[in-house]
Amino acid sequence: MDLKEQINSEKLPQHIAIIMDGNGRWAKQKGNQRIFGHKNGVKAVREVTEAAAEIGIKFLTLYAFSTENWNRPKFEIDALMQLLVSTIHAETKTLMKNNVRLMAIGNKESLPEPVQKNLYESIEKTSQNTGLTLVLALSYSSRWEMTNAMQRIALDIETGKIKSSDINEQIISNYLTTRGIPDPELLIRTSGEYRISNFLLWQIAYSELYFTSTLWPDFRKDDFYKALIDFQNRERRFGKTSEQINQKNENEIN
Ligand code: FPP
Repeated sequence: MDLKEQINSEKLPQHIAIIMDGNGRWAKQKGNQRIFGHKNGVKAVREVTEAAAEIGIKFLTLYAFSTENWNRPKFEIDALMQLLVSTIHAETKTLMKNNVRLMAIGNKESLPEPVQKNLYESIEKTSQNTGLTLVLALSYSSRWEMTNAMQRIALDIETGKIKSSDINEQIISNYLTTRGIPDPELLIRTSGEYRISNFLLWQIAYSELYFTSTLWPDFRKDDFYKALIDFQNRERRFGKTSEQINQKNENEIN
């Protein structure tokens, strides 16, 4: 049985988030510049987006550029921004064909104007699509997002829009850039690093974490299916006991 057939369509996560890592090392192994790795990383983005849409995943979030990535050499940042512009521009047609809606989280205003323009155009064009929602995390970091949320909450308290006693988990979630997006049930990181790197820290409170040594440009549909199958074989307890979870499952069956 091939890997895709092993996926239980009744137990699909709604939201999968991916830390795409290892582009630079992949390029270096091949004696090339880092940007060669990023360019080949786009192939993996295409494969995973297609696989997620085909299977029926509702949200796929890709960590494409972190707040910390602004500290990379200028020529790498420029090349990455150029790659974002050309990829978003070239792929919008495919997104439309596959009923994929594009969204972005992060400090979008800090992106160069051409990236913003292409991004907003594609977001607008695909906004009515009802299949997979592809969320690009761009100039994103959790600490930036949380700081920004706290500033806006404080402002809304000052202006009387909300009371401090109103603050609860739901209110906080609504002030994050992921507002309206369910928390990811599964977080994948490639390239053999065991870190979260300032990604979706609030949202992954109960996510299952999956690490693979595959470098991002080598990541293909089968690697994605493997992560999904691994996820489906885990027991998600949310602080409860195994017995409670099994009892609940039995009650649901009966
Ligand atoms: C991490 O590898 C990857 C990035 C910082 C950029 C990811 C971007 C792409 C895959 C291309 C554009 C994406 C979209 C969504 C159009 P790294 O450079 O940190 O690799 P290293 O850890 O081996 O140095």
